[in-house]
Amino acid sequence: MGSDAPQDRLTGLPTRAALDELDRGFRRRPAGEPWSALVIDVDDFKMINDVFGHLAGDRILQQVAYLLVRNVRQTDEAIRFGGDEFVVILRGTGKLQAANLAARFLEDVQRESFQGGVRVGVSLGLAESAEEDRALSSVLDKADRALYDSKARGKGKIAFFQDRSDREADLSFDHFVNRQAELKELRTALDEVLEKGCRAVLVTGEPGVGKTRLVTELRHYCAFRGCAFAEAKYDEVGGAEPFGLVLEPFRALVETLPEADREAVASSCGPVLPETAGLFPSLGLVQREGPLPPEWARGRVFYGDVAAVMRALTGRVPVTLLVDDLQWAHLQDLDLLGYIARSAGPMRLLIVMTARSPVEDYREAWSWLGVLRRFVPLVRIDLRPLDEEHAANMVMLALRDPQMPQEVLETITRQSGGNPYYIRELLKSLRRGGALEGGADRDYRLGSEKLPDGIAQLVRSRLDLLDPESREVLRMGALMPGSFGIDTVSFLLGIPRLRAARALDEPLRMGLVHEEVSPSGEPVCRFNHDCVRSCLLEELSASSLKALYSRLGRHYEWRWGKGEENLLAQVAYCYCESHEAEKAAEFALLAAEEAKARRAAFDQAAWLERFVRFAGASGKADTERLFEAWLELGDL
Ligand SMILES: Nc1ncnc2c1ncn2[C@@H]1O[C@H](COP(=O)(O)OP(=O)(O)O)[C@@H](O)[C@H]1O
Ligand SMILES: [Mg+2]
Repeated sequence: MGSDAPQDRLTGLPTRAALDELDRGFRRRPAGEPWSALVIDVDDFKMINDVFGHLAGDRILQQVAYLLVRNVRQTDEAIRFGGDEFVVILRGTGKLQAANLAARFLEDVQRESFQGGVRVGVSLGLAESAEEDRALSSVLDKADRALYDSKARGKGKIAFFQDRSDREADLSFDHFVNRQAELKELRTALDEVLEKGCRAVLVTGEPGVGKTRLVTELRHYCAFRGCAFAEAKYDEVGGAEPFGLVLEPFRALVETLPEADREAVASSCGPVLPETAGLFPSLGLVQREGPLPPEWARGRVFYGDVAAVMRALTGRVPVTLLVDDLQWAHLQDLDLLGYIARSAGPMRLLIVMTARSPVEDYREAWSWLGVLRRFVPLVRIDLRPLDEEHAANMVMLALRDPQMPQEVLETITRQSGGNPYYIRELLKSLRRGGALEGGADRDYRLGSEKLPDGIAQLVRSRLDLLDPESREVLRMGALMPGSFGIDTVSFLLGIPRLRAARALDEPLRMGLVHEEVSPSGEPVCRFNHDCVRSCLLEELSASSLKALYSRLGRHYEWRWGKGEENLLAQVAYCYCESHEAEKAAEFALLAAEEAKARRAAFDQAAWLERFVRFAGASGKADTERLFEAWLELGDL
C-alpha cells in the first residue's frame, strides 16, 4: 500500500479509504485468480467498553491490530474498517490460505493475555471472490454475511460465506420449540451443582430428535448463572490426542480466565508432573521436584494431577461440560472423566451427555455410565419426538406463516413423526420441489407429491437432487468419519481439487454439509447430520468399500511416509476397514506403539487387539511379536 493511504491513529492500520485502491487492483485481476476477504469483529466490544472503560477498549483494539499485523503476509492488506471491525484483503489468494491465516490469528487471540485480564474473543467471516464478482465490495459483502453466520453459531468462530440464494434459504429454524420440561430439568441440575456439587445428566433419543439442540440451549442459563460452558465433541474416530476430547475444552476454558483466576488456580494446585504442566501452559503450574514416580504409577499420578486442576478450576468458576455423542467417546477419555467425577465431591461440575438410543447397545459407554452413577447423581432424560401441536408450531415458524392449511400441517407432522430433523429436511425438500411456495399468494400443493416414508428415504430424495459428480464426491467424503478434506475426495475420484471443490458447492448450498476450519487451518467439510453420512455409505457395496479404504490407506500411508503428522491412526483405520490383514496388522502395531508413547492405554489396547486379530488372519505373523502383544494386552 502506498504511504499516502490514510492511517488510523489508534492502530496505525490503513483506514477503509484504502479499499479504493485495492478495488482497482481487484478489477484488474487476471481471469481465474481468486481474492479473499476476511472480516473480523471483536465479540461484545460494546460491553467491554462499558465495563472496563474506553481506554481499556482502545488498548484492546491495538492489541488485536498487532496480532493481525503479525499474521498477514506482505501481499495482504489489514485495514481498520471502523469501530471494532477489521478487514483483511488477501490478493490472489483462495479461501484455503485465507482460512489458514484466519485460524492462526484466532489462535493468537485466544492465547493473548489482554490488558487488565479482559477476556477478548473475535469472530471471523471469510469469503473468496467468484469469477463474476466485479467489485471488491461484493466479496466484502459476502464475508460480512459469513461473519453474521459465525456470530449466530456462537462467538469466537470462523465461518465461510455460503451462497443461499435459493428458495430453501428463507426457511427459518432459529426458534427453539417446546422442550420446556426437559430444559427445566437441565436447569435444575445446574442449580443443584451450584449448591451441592457434581451432577450428571444423560439425554438419550433417536437420531435427529433434538438432543444436541436441547443441551446447547442450556448455554443461556449457564451464562446467566455465571457458569462456563465447555464442549467435547466426538466423531466415530476421535481426535489424535489422548484425553484431548476431555481436556481440550478445559484447556480452552483456562485460557479465557482472567489472569487473577489463573494464578489462583495454579497456586491451589501444588506441584504436578511435567506432562500435566504441559497440558495447561497458560497456568504456569509448578512441577514436581526430585525423582518422578515410577512408570507403573505415573498414570494414576497424572489423573490425580488433572483432577486437582479441575477442582481448583471449578472452585473459581462452575463448569458445564457437554459430552455430545457419548456413544463415540474414547474409553480412555471417559476413564479420565470418571476419575475426575469420582474425586469430585463438592466440585461445581455439571456433566451433560447425549447418546443415541438405545444407549444400552453401546456396551462400553453403557457400563461406564453404570460406574459413574455410583459416584455422581445421574438423571436421564429420554427425548421423545415433538407432539403434533409442537411439530405444527415448528412448521409454521419455519415458514413464518401462522395460517397454513390444516391438512398440510397434519400431513407434514404425521409424516415426520415429530422428529425435528425430519421436519427440517422435509420442509426443505418440499420447498425446493415448489410444493410450499411463500409470498402473497401462498401456494401449498402437497397432493401430487409422494412424501418419503422415513428419514433415510427423505435424505435419499434430497441426495437425488444432486448431480452425479456432487453425489459421488459426498459419498467419498462419507468414508472418513467426522470431517473430510477436499484432498481426500479429489484423490479418491482422481479429479482436480478445484473440480472437487466445485462439486461440493451444491451440497453446501443445500445444507447437507457445512464448511469448517480444521485445526491445521484447512477448510474441511462436515455432514450436517450423521443421517446423511450413513445414507451415503449405504450406497456403497461391501466390496467397493473395501477397495476404497484400501486406496485411501495407501494414500495416507504415502503422506505419512513423507512425514505428515497425525496420520498413523487414519492409515491403520483404513487398512482395518479394507480388511488387508497384513497391512492392518503392521499399522495397528505402529499405532499401538504410538499410543503407548503417549500413555494412552485404552488406545494402545484397542490397536493391539486389532493387531492380534489381523496378524492371526494374515498367517504371516511374527509369532514372538504376537505373543508379546498378548502379554501386553493382559497387562493393560
Ligand atoms: N426443539 C427444537 N426446536 C427447533 N428445532 C429443533 C429442536 N430440536 C431439534 N431441532 C433441529 O432439528 C435438527 C436435529 O437436531 P439435533 O439436536 O441435531 O438432533 P440429535 O442430536 O438428537 O441427533 C437440528 O437442525 C435442530 O436445530
Ligand atoms: Mg446430536
